[in-house]
Amino acid sequence: MVTDLKVQKATREEALRVAELSSEVAKEGTIREFKPEDVMELLSSEQYYVVVAKLSGEVVGYAMSTYSWGKLHILDVAVEKRRRRMGIGKTLIQHLIHHALEKSIPEAYCEVKARNIPALNLFTRLGFRFKIFSTLVAGGFYGLYLSIPESLRGFKRPVAEEF
Ligand SMILES: CC(C)(COP(=O)(O)OP(=O)(O)OC[C@H]1O[C@@H](n2cnc3c(N)ncnc32)[C@H](O)[C@@H]1OP(=O)(O)O)[C@@H](O)C(=O)NCCC(=O)NCCS
Repeated sequence: MVTDLKVQKATREEALRVAELSSEVAKEGTIREFKPEDVMELLSSEQYYVVVAKLSGEVVGYAMSTYSWGKLHILDVAVEKRRRRMGIGKTLIQHLIHHALEKSIPEAYCEVKARNIPALNLFTRLGFRFKIFSTLVAGGFYGLYLSIPESLRGFKRPVAEEF
């Protein structure tokens, strides 16, 4: 676990770095690539909530979400390859869960490719449960849901700056 990790709402100044990271990680075939202008568009819209994970001030990961049909729909989460397995992905998703809680959104939702074991483990370990399996896209994907209040029972509220 890293000690100087901060997760916070992404700023316009960070759009370029988020796009760069998305381009790097998209080569692995698990997420889509965002151009700087796409990221800017998300940051300018109240429909989206984008956060970055910073290690010693450097953006090493991000998560994107949108408000959709009473759910917080997690669109993407990505961590720089050499920074994985340090708890950064988990911290990003926990931040989104707390954001949903603050906004009184009762459920978080994410679609994950069936072959994406790291992401499936990440979400299920945070309490997300499978509701849908679809084979409509190549290889299939799972729809994973988290009921927010249930997940937070007995969960100690973290320090604001960290989450
Ligand atoms: C999925 C991803 C965001 C996880 O980020 P991360 O910072 O490495 O994740 P964490 O260190 O917080 O790990 C949290 C849990 O996820 C699971 N996990 C993460 N990487 C894993 C791996 N390579 N294999 C199996 N499980 C893994 C584990 O359960 C882990 O908990 P543990 O370390 O206590 O066992 C990262 O692998 C990534 O960027 N992948 C490419 C993009 C992607 O697939 N995004 C998801 C699209 S929906």
